[in-house]
Amino acid sequence: MMLKKIAVLGAGTMGHGIAESFAIHGYEVNLFDNDATRLAIAKEEIEAELELLALEKFIEPGVVQSILNRITLVTDLKQCVIDRDYVIEATFEEIGLKQELFKTLDELCPPHTILASNTSTLQLSEMTKYVSVERKEKVIVNHWYNPAHLMPIVELSYFGNMPDSTYGQIEKLYESIDKTTVKVLKDIPGLIANRIAQAIAREVFSLIEMGAAAPEDIDKALQAGPAFRYATTGHLEIADLGGLDIWYTSVNNILKDIESTTEPSKLLKEKVNEGKLGIKTGEGFYKYEAEEVLLTKERFNKRLINQLKAMKKMAEIR
Ligand SMILES: NC(=O)c1ccc[n+]([C@@H]2O[C@H](COP(=O)([O-])OP(=O)(O)OC[C@H]3O[C@@H](n4cnc5c(N)ncnc54)[C@H](O)[C@@H]3O)[C@@H](O)[C@H]2O)c1
Repeated sequence: MMLKKIAVLGAGTMGHGIAESFAIHGYEVNLFDNDATRLAIAKEEIEAELELLALEKFIEPGVVQSILNRITLVTDLKQCVIDRDYVIEATFEEIGLKQELFKTLDELCPPHTILASNTSTLQLSEMTKYVSVERKEKVIVNHWYNPAHLMPIVELSYFGNMPDSTYGQIEKLYESIDKTTVKVLKDIPGLIANRIAQAIAREVFSLIEMGAAAPEDIDKALQAGPAFRYATTGHLEIADLGGLDIWYTSVNNILKDIESTTEPSKLLKEKVNEGKLGIKTGEGFYKYEAEEVLLTKERFNKRLINQLKAMKKMAEIR
């Protein structure tokens, strides 16, 4: 059976982009949030993001309205999910809330509905503690990356609770919206991509703390160095290309000098305590004038759109 009718619960940072991705690829999506104001803002955000995709010639300008028409804002949870095949929750990261929501969804949804969580840190078994035994075969973590409508990755839990045929339906669903899925075999915090990102972040913060280079240069080193290759080829293949003997020597020589703390960086803590939270407060590692904020965000999105275009081209190289 094809999964066709989608519902997204929570229309915040992630939820609006998830709904948008499905609608771009022709799916009818019900979008629900228990905050009506947030729901209205989400539609505006989606429209602005679609306009940018059209401006960058990633989609045809003529399709923006039809994509928007495929997203129905719903203010009643039952009405939102009652006829859906696939329901994704992207609500607050609170275990009690998600447990309650999954229990309610189990009661409201038809037996065939698959329930998914976009959680970044919570365990699937804990979140779905109160759902029926039958539904436990139809629950999954599907972890998107921000901004959801642009980032290709969706990590999928493959923890043994679900028959392969159901998992296969979900993989097909994501393939049909051009997402790259990753099968995660263990229920570990951060799944795969975030754990790798945190390992890089720990060293980046440490390098700034020790004054090894200016923030701009550390960012440049990452972007023009490892990240440039990573955008084309995964680490294990890169290691094979370079030679595992070379990697062995390098690891042997450098690893003992690399940051290994299990605490958040002191510098990061200081910034947070001083209210320097990044673009939303005008200062983080860099400073942002009020008039630069929108432009900076737009530049980031434009670059991601062009990277997506490059990725499509790269996929053709055999
Ligand atoms: N922000 C990220 O970068 C990111 C990335 C990957 C995964 N996640 C995960 O995705 C989820 C959502 O994160 P976010 O950043 O979009 O949060 P957010 O705060 O931007 O949005 C959450 C939305 O959920 C709504 N909500 C809360 N309780 C609800 C309920 N019971 N029913 C319906 N709507 C409800 C809120 O009104 C809000 O609009 C979290 O589990 C988070 O860990 C976030």
